[in-house]
Amino acid sequence: MALSVVILAAGQGTRMKSDTPKVLHEISGKPMLFHTIDAAQAVSDDITVVLYHQAERIQQEIEAAYEGIHFHTQDALRFPGTGGAMRGVKTLHTRTLILNGDMPLLTESSLRLLAEGDADINMSIIVPDRPYAYGRVVIENDKVQKIIEEKDCTPEQKQIRHLNAGVYCVSQRVLEEYIPKLNNDNAQSEYYLTDIIQMAVADSRKVHPVIVQEEDFQGVNSKLDLANAERFMQNRIKETLMMQGVTMRLPETIYIDSRASFEGECLLENGVTILGESRLIHAHIKAHSVIESSYIQDSDVGPMGRIRPDTVLKNSHVGNFVEVKKSTLTGVKAGHLSYIGDSQIDEGSNIGAGVITCNYDGKKKYQTIIGKNVFVGSDTQLVAPVTIEDDVMIAAGSTINKNIQKGALAISRAPLKTVQNFFYKFFGKEG
Ligand code: UD1
Ligand code: CA
Repeated sequence: MALSVVILAAGQGTRMKSDTPKVLHEISGKPMLFHTIDAAQAVSDDITVVLYHQAERIQQEIEAAYEGIHFHTQDALRFPGTGGAMRGVKTLHTRTLILNGDMPLLTESSLRLLAEGDADINMSIIVPDRPYAYGRVVIENDKVQKIIEEKDCTPEQKQIRHLNAGVYCVSQRVLEEYIPKLNNDNAQSEYYLTDIIQMAVADSRKVHPVIVQEEDFQGVNSKLDLANAERFMQNRIKETLMMQGVTMRLPETIYIDSRASFEGECLLENGVTILGESRLIHAHIKAHSVIESSYIQDSDVGPMGRIRPDTVLKNSHVGNFVEVKKSTLTGVKAGHLSYIGDSQIDEGSNIGAGVITCNYDGKKKYQTIIGKNVFVGSDTQLVAPVTIEDDVMIAAGSTINKNIQKGALAISRAPLKTVQNFFYKFFGKEG
């Protein structure tokens, strides 16, 4: 069925107590509004986002990530509120799904459920054990009568357990007839979209209540709500991945970005964090490692490894307390305590404990290139830019500040000096 979607995202989000617009706060690596747009795109080809507060910033971010989204600016000074937001919005199709931009947990299936049938209004209702925060839905003789905002409720009305989840599917005539007629005669002096319900009821239009899953319709209004939504989203992401065959040890301790992808048999140990558009193929990430926007294939990392953006690991072993940034390692072992930045390291090379690439001179970053079968001794500093050709041995503790030719040994060390019995002379004890 052809369906239009309008996403309301013009509100200020005061309760977030933040300079960042509410809908741009991130959940599992993406602005919460993007999760809503993703769900909308699964059901509609005509999506309009209503903006006002920080409109330019939000529109820019959407346009950088999506194509074909329409925008409408709310006249929020004259017509504040969710009803004001719908004034003048143009839609393409005969039925329109109205969503809130602060509902990142909406799913394609819950939206489809709301779009079913031919009622003038399908409205979403949740029925939790105890009523809270949401608008209360007055139902008499099994028929929806109206929605009362919590701020406008009498103490008795506050006890109503049917809550307005805030998503509606409405016919074109509802939009055309009722939106222009809304008034702001309420506790917040706002134009409430919720008032279309009683208008439709008064005109004997069909208003159909749809009981929906509370989790999917969680609105995010505060940082507390944000943290709760994040928890739900993480559970979804991890459950999906485990069903796809990713092994997770203590999944409740693992964090995975919604943009990350996995292939083959991957094992994530406890405390692992996977951020950004990471791609893991047959990877084993050991406890408490952090992987950020990187490609990891047939490799293991950690425990306590840190792989920073734009790293490619193939057939490699990266051990504990090793940090790798913007580097490509193919068939490499880097077992312990290293920093590898802006590097390319080839097949069969071994990076000893404590090796550091000195990639930054305070102004610019430089490359370190290491060929095949290179043995880099422990505690070596590689001062970039520098190239180490194939089959080179670098002695432990060396500072390498020029290129090393194929097959050579490189060693830079102050000669070792020993002073016999110095300890006893210094501390005055018998030897
Ligand atoms: C709204 C509903 C409430 C419902 C709840 C569900 C109204 C009057 N109330 O309340 O019944 O239980 O959602 O989550 O509709 N917005 C605009 N322009 C505005 C004001 C808001 O675009 O002038 C947008 C916001 O950006 C937000 C959405 O509308 O994405 C909802 O606004 P919000 O202020 O969060 O409404 P609630 O108080 O949650
Ligand atoms: Ca809300």
